[in-house]
Amino acid sequence: MRKAIYPGSFDPITNGHIDIISRASKLFDEVIVLLAVNPSKECRFTIEERLAMLKVATKQFNNVKVDFYPGLTIQYARKVGAVALIRGLRVVSDFEYEWALSAANEFIDKDIEMVFLMAHREMTFISSSSIDELYRSGVDISPLVPKVVVDNYAKKYNK
Ligand code: COA
Repeated sequence: MRKAIYPGSFDPITNGHIDIISRASKLFDEVIVLLAVNPSKECRFTIEERLAMLKVATKQFNNVKVDFYPGLTIQYARKVGAVALIRGLRVVSDFEYEWALSAANEFIDKDIEMVFLMAHREMTFISSSSIDELYRSGVDISPLVPKVVVDNYAKKYNK
């Protein structure tokens, strides 16, 4: 069974992420969407909230699971026997970060491949931060995120 990991902060998950997950799920027998820790980020949603949103947003895919790991993504991938780490590329500036990340991962385990999927053009402007900014400015975010994210924003900020 060919298993791949798709790691991220998912704060929150967007339709851009769903697009990558959907395409990865067709390439691999199993995809684990891994909630990982980016130490340079202060997240808006808690780990529990993000995990819950991920589970609801990905339940449409039969071969996609969700998990959390506080350590290095590549170590998690090795632990579960994954053959690849999936990353989405949107714009050229993503490449620099991915280059450094893949070099670090290769240093730890050369046998796990980094697989990059190009985000669809209409998704390239979406990021978790832009979703947050749009929401706070009163813009309807529902075309850009799964429904569960809209519901969570409403719960968190409009009580
Ligand atoms: N569509 C829409 N948005 C996307 C996207 C896509 N296809 N791909 C990325 N993004 C957005 C994300 O939402 C995120 O937005 P934000 O910065 O506004 O929050 C941004 O692009 C960056 O995403 P990403 O590069 O995936 O960063 P991340 O913080 O979500 O994830 C980790 C980074 C968690 C994968 C990485 O830090 C990690 O693996 N951490 C674990 C520890 C580790 O292994 N570190 C490496 C050691 S050298």
